[in-house]
Amino acid sequence: MKRIFSGSQPTGNLHLGNYLGAIKQYIKYQEEGDGFFCVVDLHALTLPQDPEALRKKTMELATLYVAAGLDPNKATLFIQSHVPAHAEGAWLLQCIARMGELNRMVQFKEKGKGEETAGVGLFTYPILQAADILLYDADIVPVGEDQKQHIELTRDLAERFNHRFGEVLKVPVPMIPEQGARIMGLDNPEKKMSKSAESASNYITLLEDPKSIMKKLKRAVTDSENVVRYDREQKPGVSNLLEIHSLLSGESISALEEKYSDAGYGKLKIETAEVIIDHLTPVRERYKKLVETGEIEEILITGAKRAQEVTGGVLERMRSAMGLVSPYRK
Ligand code: AMP
Ligand code: TRP
Repeated sequence: MKRIFSGSQPTGNLHLGNYLGAIKQYIKYQEEGDGFFCVVDLHALTLPQDPEALRKKTMELATLYVAAGLDPNKATLFIQSHVPAHAEGAWLLQCIARMGELNRMVQFKEKGKGEETAGVGLFTYPILQAADILLYDADIVPVGEDQKQHIELTRDLAERFNHRFGEVLKVPVPMIPEQGARIMGLDNPEKKMSKSAESASNYITLLEDPKSIMKKLKRAVTDSENVVRYDREQKPGVSNLLEIHSLLSGESISALEEKYSDAGYGKLKIETAEVIIDHLTPVRERYKKLVETGEIEEILITGAKRAQEVTGGVLERMRSAMGLVSPYRK
């Protein structure tokens, strides 16, 4: 059975881009493989966080994963910091990673803005991500397009490690969906939908109420041509709506182009909003129930135990290959 690993940061609000680019793949993979899905709270620390808010967001994200369809009976769901091997594995990998390769990471350039005050954790962030993945002997890492470079680095680190110390680490492959890998902002379809966007009209959160979804969709930025056609270069706004609609409704893009060919943008916007609402209403309801029952805590305890079992073995392989003395056990 294939091992799958992926993670999301508990910052900002989980949005439709995360859902279509990542979580929908997780749900698909939980049927086919042995999935590990992680709330990467250690990664969140790479930027300043309010401690209380971070705690809340971490639980919220774990709950949302389940509400959105991750089944704890099929996949392992846990919080990164509950599994100390992640931090330790990251240290081992830091000792084989190179400044030059980290300097090329686009996410660091964007978030660090080239400033002297940029955090060291932000710089080494991709190494922690590599540890996340490699500690599970993961075969497949489902992510959105923006994470491709980090997975490439993960592969490079695994290969370098194996070259130096013998075949210890499995080299994973990224799985980037053909559609949905890059859902664009509703207020600016030139840039990806992002939880750190300045304006809330950029995204639809998974818990957003129907009224607000409709309002944001009606205001979504398109173009002045008023012809419904899929063309990501020339018509990013309309193409983004078509893509969202298609991914949620299951209708093909060409069928939708046909359907809205005489209708103009108004109808496309309203019906895309309706498809989103239909999809997110049960997620919102399940979320509410999960919060009431508090069952997420049990799920996370079980998840962390299983994650510790798996990572313990891989970490010991790494430690031993690198020349560390195994801890004495009596
Ligand atoms: P993040 O929210 O950056 O922690 O990302 C969590 C997951 O969602 C990662 O796999 C990302 O690649 C994916 N993701 C984030 N934003 C988008 C987007 N606008 N479209 C598609 N996937 C996304
Ligand atoms: N860096 C990823 C993001 O920003 C989150 C992440 C951390 C991740 N560790 C991971 C994704 C391991 C996949 C696998 O979206």
